[in-house]
Amino acid sequence: MQRRPYALLCLWLSLALATLAATPAQARETAPAQQSPIIDYNERFLPIVGREGMVVGPEQLATEAGKQILQQGGNVVDAAVATGFALAVTYPRAGNLGGGGFMLLHLAEGNRDVFIDYRETAPAAASRDMFLKADSSEDLALEYFSLQSSGVPGTVAGLLYALEKYGSMGREQVLAPAIALAEQGFAVSFALNYELAARADRLHRNPEAKRLYFKPDGSPYQIGEILRQPDLAWTLRQIAARGKDGFYRGEVARRIAAEMQRGNGLITLEDLAAYRAIERVPLRGRFHEFEIVSAPPPSSGGVHILQILNLLENDDLAALGHNSAAYLHLLTESMKLAYADRSEYLGDPDFVDVPVAALTDKAYAARQRKLIAADRATPSARIAPGRELVVESQDTTQYTIADRHGNMVSNTYTLNASFGSAIAVPGTGMLLNNEMGDFAALPGGANMFGLVQGERNAIAGGKRPLSSMSPTIVFRDGQPWFATGSPGGSMIITTVLQTILNAMAFDMNVATAGTSPRIHHQWLPDELQAEQGISPDTLALLRDMGHTVKAGGRTIGRTQSIMLRDGWLLGATDPRRPGGWVAAY
Ligand code: DON
Repeated sequence: MQRRPYALLCLWLSLALATLAATPAQARETAPAQQSPIIDYNERFLPIVGREGMVVGPEQLATEAGKQILQQGGNVVDAAVATGFALAVTYPRAGNLGGGGFMLLHLAEGNRDVFIDYRETAPAAASRDMFLKADSSEDLALEYFSLQSSGVPGTVAGLLYALEKYGSMGREQVLAPAIALAEQGFAVSFALNYELAARADRLHRNPEAKRLYFKPDGSPYQIGEILRQPDLAWTLRQIAARGKDGFYRGEVARRIAAEMQRGNGLITLEDLAAYRAIERVPLRGRFHEFEIVSAPPPSSGGVHILQILNLLENDDLAALGHNSAAYLHLLTESMKLAYADRSEYLGDPDFVDVPVAALTDKAYAARQRKLIAADRATPSARIAPGRELVVESQDTTQYTIADRHGNMVSNTYTLNASFGSAIAVPGTGMLLNNEMGDFAALPGGANMFGLVQGERNAIAGGKRPLSSMSPTIVFRDGQPWFATGSPGGSMIITTVLQTILNAMAFDMNVATAGTSPRIHHQWLPDELQAEQGISPDTLALLRDMGHTVKAGGRTIGRTQSIMLRDGWLLGATDPRRPGGWVAAY
């Protein structure tokens, strides 16, 4: 390379110009003064580089709000809380106060990993058959788009728990950017205009949602027009002033309960007052020299990511070749085994036994690995949840934050569907989730993501619905190395899995790892989904092996990732959706 300085300079200049043209503000802000040794310019996609701190998320203003908090001296948790509240304002399709999620933290001091579960809970009055019609079929409108669709919101409790226990700033300071964005308004982006127009029909059905996000004539705000949300600003101010009680008790709670009473919703003042975020021990597993830390139940994410990695660990994946037919076959067959187990064994661990240790046991994987034929797809109908478990005792969004000291936050939170139930609580500026749909309304039946789920995930008052959200941090040689996560319902697990595999087994940088074409199989339906960009020759080979391949349909997931290498922060927002942003300094 050094013998060809001119060629290298040309390459560097053309790449720099291409990057500038694509994301001008980003590139100018964060380009290193000189070529950094950690970037291999021969990779297809390049990350944004930062030195001190970085926030990667689905929307520019909220990620910049997180960066601003870091620059004011806040830690990664302060930034995560600020970004979480700001996304509730700027990214209403998934950013939220009325939903829930999971936050995974790595704290360099004390080398600690912390998992905060702020998943919604079923209201006390919820019951097992609440979404079944007289003929025992599911009432999908009731399940997904009614006031009964909502679990008790967890986001405010979760973000405040994180702030109080692991943050360093006061509520007023971290809530200030969100309040300003709600009160003063912000210019509607291409992405927001597009999302509101795409969901206009659904949002128009609820007069309050229509009033919040559309102009009086019902049309969406145009790109560049200012969207102000004074009611949401009021709610945020209640939280800033009174903390958790500002949301779960008092006037905000009364407005939520009143709306529930108006339309047969189940959430009561008592449900709201009883809500608690729960700190859980994250799951840990090894894959060669890497240690993976991820989401425990009530997420299924960590369990199945570890289970699939165990199934793959003894194959030489690099030798098979990235996205080769042989590799994708092995990956698909492993996914089918894991999702079959998911359909039976996973649920809220506070209500049912989840055999986590048995499912993530390497010996179990070794036995299951023998069920995978070398060059033949096993029809899903012939795969059942594993019976050889040795049980010993017994439209979501992601943002990722890191600083140079190795503190990291991976946060996935959601209203479930895009804009949740599409019902807003009058006077709060807030949409409600439709997370009740993540329970098995009819155990053995499929949910909105086509996922088959079992008895352990049946509805019960106070229970948390099973999730696939998988905020994940990978350690390399004991050091925090790669933080990521994704929306995508049932595809979250396979998205996060392939992203970390691309980095761990195929040595890709963070941008290439998140951008490369992905596949997804979830056991049922027996269908291998492949994104655009996987070669038709490869797909033909997979079909020859007996896979039912569905190519070029929906994209799979949307990651927000940061890699920490040699003291540099390398960030990448997934280009599968518009509007993502890397805020770095
Ligand atoms: O918790 C879960 O698994 C789902 N509620 C996530 C929903 C989701 O990712 C929708 N976004 N694409």
